[in-house]
Amino acid sequence: MSNSLAKIHVKTSTEYDVLIGENLIEQAGSLVKNVLGECRIALITDDVVDKLYSKKVISSLKESGYDVIKFVFKNGEQSKNLTTYGQILEFLAQNEFTRTDAVIALGGGVVGDMAGFASATFLRGIRYIQIPTTLLAQVDSSVGGKTAIDLSYGKNLTGAFKQPELVICDTSVLKTLPKEIFDDGMGEVAKYALLDKKVFKLIEKGDYSLDELVYLCVDYKRQIVEKDEFESNERKLLNLGHTTAHGIELLSGYTISHGRAVALGLRIMLNAAKKHLNINEQVYEKIIGVINKCVSEERCAYQIKDICTAMLNDKKRSGDYISFVIIYGVGDCRIEKIKTVDAMEYLS
Ligand code: GLY
Repeated sequence: MSNSLAKIHVKTSTEYDVLIGENLIEQAGSLVKNVLGECRIALITDDVVDKLYSKKVISSLKESGYDVIKFVFKNGEQSKNLTTYGQILEFLAQNEFTRTDAVIALGGGVVGDMAGFASATFLRGIRYIQIPTTLLAQVDSSVGGKTAIDLSYGKNLTGAFKQPELVICDTSVLKTLPKEIFDDGMGEVAKYALLDKKVFKLIEKGDYSLDELVYLCVDYKRQIVEKDEFESNERKLLNLGHTTAHGIELLSGYTISHGRAVALGLRIMLNAAKKHLNINEQVYEKIIGVINKCVSEERCAYQIKDICTAMLNDKKRSGDYISFVIIYGVGDCRIEKIKTVDAMEYLS
């Protein structure tokens, strides 16, 4: 499959394709044209990605006849806030964007979440396309239509479900990612490995192409979001390791990246499963081995009791119960509610 273009069709309220292959950024104009037809485009990106890829994307869009305007904000989670979100909306309004125009999110998870949320809300919703440039965004956040910004009380506390019209995963861009950004995505890959036997086997085997890796993760996510687009049931599985991860991120003042926090969260959930579900030692070692292949082992700097206090601010808590995804085995993870007062005991 490597060096060819793979397509995954996602059947949600808005149906769309996820394209996976090398050097797709250079073809952005024609790929976008096939989906959007004629319109104006606002390219939204951050200052790091802007220097690397905006020129290529814009020149390809212009070759296909598009009038493009660009909004650039400072790279990093700290920008994913009400201020930047407001600036994007004002920018679209100032440029007289209409409901027939469209946004392209070019960048990692922060760009995708924020440009997506602006698209979901500007004029009550305009079309948008994702061009994810990090592994995390390609395997997870660009697909499935979750958009959000952070509030001072926590991450992703305001958002909307808004599916993109197209996702273009150019896997060539992953080859030049700084190691820590690549590893951040591997934290989400580790999650998919626990949820899906195919991803687990691929990581266990090693020697896979980035196209294969992105394809398998996105295809698993496709199946889940097609069944439960608005996260009433199955989609909560994709939060495996995330409840504890959000606590860890919060405690670290967001100096621990999301993917690294997810890998730590997976280890906490696996240890809890070993303690409460008697997961067999061999299976446990196999799973730990795959998590370590994704993200090298690291000691969690925080106590479970502090992680629990922090994660109780997580939006997945409802009333006296907190939702966890419990690991029964590879490809057998289940959503369960645990009494908030018992959460610490469960995880310790
Ligand atoms: N990142 C998890 C989800 O999209 O549901």
